[in-house]
Amino acid sequence: MLSSFTINSRRYLGNKTKLLPFILDTVVKNCKNIESVADIFAGTGSVASAFVDKVIYTNDILKSNYICNLAWFSPKEYSKTKVESILNEFNNYNTTESNYMKDNFANTYFSAKVCSKIGFIRENIENLSKNGEINERETSILITSLLYAMDKIATTCGHYDSYRKGAKLADGINLAMPRLYDNLNQNNHCFNKDANELVREIYADLVYIDPPYNSRQYSDTYHLLENVATWQKPQVFGVAKKMDRSAIKSKYCNSTANEAFNDLITNINARYILLSYNNMATKGNDRSNARINDEIIMQTLSKKGKVSIFSQDYKAFSAGKSSIKDNSERLFLCKCR
Ligand SMILES: C[S@@+](CC[C@H](N)C(=O)[O-])C[C@H]1O[C@@H](n2cnc3c(N)ncnc32)[C@H](O)[C@@H]1O
Repeated sequence: MLSSFTINSRRYLGNKTKLLPFILDTVVKNCKNIESVADIFAGTGSVASAFVDKVIYTNDILKSNYICNLAWFSPKEYSKTKVESILNEFNNYNTTESNYMKDNFANTYFSAKVCSKIGFIRENIENLSKNGEINERETSILITSLLYAMDKIATTCGHYDSYRKGAKLADGINLAMPRLYDNLNQNNHCFNKDANELVREIYADLVYIDPPYNSRQYSDTYHLLENVATWQKPQVFGVAKKMDRSAIKSKYCNSTANEAFNDLITNINARYILLSYNNMATKGNDRSNARINDEIIMQTLSKKGKVSIFSQDYKAFSAGKSSIKDNSERLFLCKCR
């Protein structure tokens, strides 16, 4: 029997699942006539999932997130029976073949046997797609199933900056079927671009912004999922086995963050802008400190409209090393002029 999983069954830094009631409440109480929502730093797509009754636009610079967002939110048709039958076939297939995954990642994040199976599954999805046996939505559902299954068993603490040496490696990998939404809006659209480019091209009643807060690049943290999702089989290096990630680095993680933020806000075409940004400005270590300070946020948003701030206490990510007090997750709501 094939098991199933929801959009939130995934570990992801800065994932807003726990904040959804707070985000929804803020929107319901303060925004009028919202028919379209753009989640332009969508990550897992958890915030978009709170607005599935509207027209949704999702976007992320990482292809691994784009593919998952396509699976969850694209209104294109798919055959559930076909996808489930392929997943069952993959689950029942035994292999120890050599392939890109086994050759490069054996006994790191996964055992050699599991690497072999991941490589086999991903290659087969690629071939089914190239031969026209599965459409784009079906392809994205199968890859999403693989990425979530990998996340469940990887010997990491949720990110791929390193693997836990000597940890017990899972003996197998089990694919499950995503519990997809019914009645998605036919105008939904998923994008895979720099958010600063995208905002010049779209209008939405509400644009939700959840950029990276600090110097941790998501392309570093999730390189392995990105590698499997894109399946270009690049050369990998270093202990963590990362590929070249220069094309997917975010401007929001370095000193250009203020400039990028100003350009983003200036070019947004919306009635409301909702920004998530925590107040770690100078409280953690250098790596976890926020890149954009409150003054800049307020100055920039105020040029666009009237700004209100809502806050809720929320536990920060600090790799378990430091306990950072008074951390609260804030929402800046700008009612655009
Ligand atoms: C804080 S996370 C978003 C988490 C998301 N709200 C969730 O609940 O899963 C920030 C996301 O922005 C993406 N990102 C970083 N820079 C970007 C850019 N310039 N354009 C689009 N996406 C970007 C990262 O890949 C990451 O997934």
